[in-house]
Amino acid sequence: MFRMFNRKYSLSSIGHAQHILSGQHALITGGSRGLGLAIAKNLSSKGCKVTLLARNETRLKANVKLLNEEYPVSELSEKKGHDYLVFDLANSHQIESFIKQQYPAYKQVNILINCAGISQHSLLIGSKPEEIQTIININLLSPIFLSKLFARSMMRLINPNIVNVSSLLSIQPSPGTSIYSITKSGLNSLTKNLSLEMQRKKIRVNAVLPGLIEDTDIGKGVNKDAISSANSLNTTADTNSASNITFPTTTSTEVASVVSGLVCDGRSSGELVVVPHK
Ligand SMILES: NC(=O)c1ccc[n+]([C@@H]2O[C@H](COP(=O)([O-])OP(=O)(O)OC[C@H]3O[C@@H](n4cnc5c(N)ncnc54)[C@H](OP(=O)(O)O)[C@@H]3O)[C@@H](O)[C@H]2O)c1
Repeated sequence: MFRMFNRKYSLSSIGHAQHILSGQHALITGGSRGLGLAIAKNLSSKGCKVTLLARNETRLKANVKLLNEEYPVSELSEKKGHDYLVFDLANSHQIESFIKQQYPAYKQVNILINCAGISQHSLLIGSKPEEIQTIININLLSPIFLSKLFARSMMRLINPNIVNVSSLLSIQPSPGTSIYSITKSGLNSLTKNLSLEMQRKKIRVNAVLPGLIEDTDIGKGVNKDAISSANSLNTTADTNSASNITFPTTTSTEVASVVSGLVCDGRSSGELVVVPHK
């Protein structure tokens, strides 16, 4: 049976430790905008060096410039500061070799945030095979390959941990999200299983399950009618079912602070944290 852990991470409980992540290094996929950028700002404000990965180089370059100005990496040895990688995660089977060849510093990454994702735009019966494959490649296969690669090297580093950005849709049915929700359920399973596999190596693996993040491009594109339809479906759902949840809204800043809480707390593993907490 699906088991879910909820925990509230308040901004105030983690905000006091200004440079708690000093000397640590996070790779954040989807760091060109939206939630990935919000997570990058949060972690770098705590002293963490960040590497952003996405496709849009113009955005990535601008974000890295901003982060280097606002939250410069303090270590003397870190001459380069925050940086970025341009890669299309639709080519998920090439991500391992790309990182190994183009980013030798990957062995210093102790925090992996699998945030990049795309939504679904049609019902299953109207979805083209290529669209289905692309959603699976970006949302699920890329996090699997990246976790496999980074877990090997991060087990030798301090505070090794992975946070997967899942979705409330992984546990809540909604028309037009079949493939998307399958990928996010897969991330939940990856989180639980990898957390157990890596327990002895002290690598922590957690996931966040945000509701609707209204201030990102995916959030802005969401069909509000589909959400109210899902909410009304839930009024008739089995009361024992995990799907018996209404669809709450949140912000990228709030989700980023929960991600940051998981990264910093030094103990959580295997948790699937719904945001906002109810
Ligand atoms: N917004 C919501 O309501 C909501 C709710 C629950 C969960 N989520 C999850 O939150 C995560 C972040 O989404 P968001 O809301 O911040 O949406 P967003 O603003 O659209 O950001 C998506 C990010 O993923 C990157 N990305 C997309 N396709 C990519 C590809 N092929 N290769 C590499 N990077 C790619 C984008 O960068 P480029 O375009 O530059 O490549 C961008 O940085 C996703 O996993 C999403 O499923 C969102």
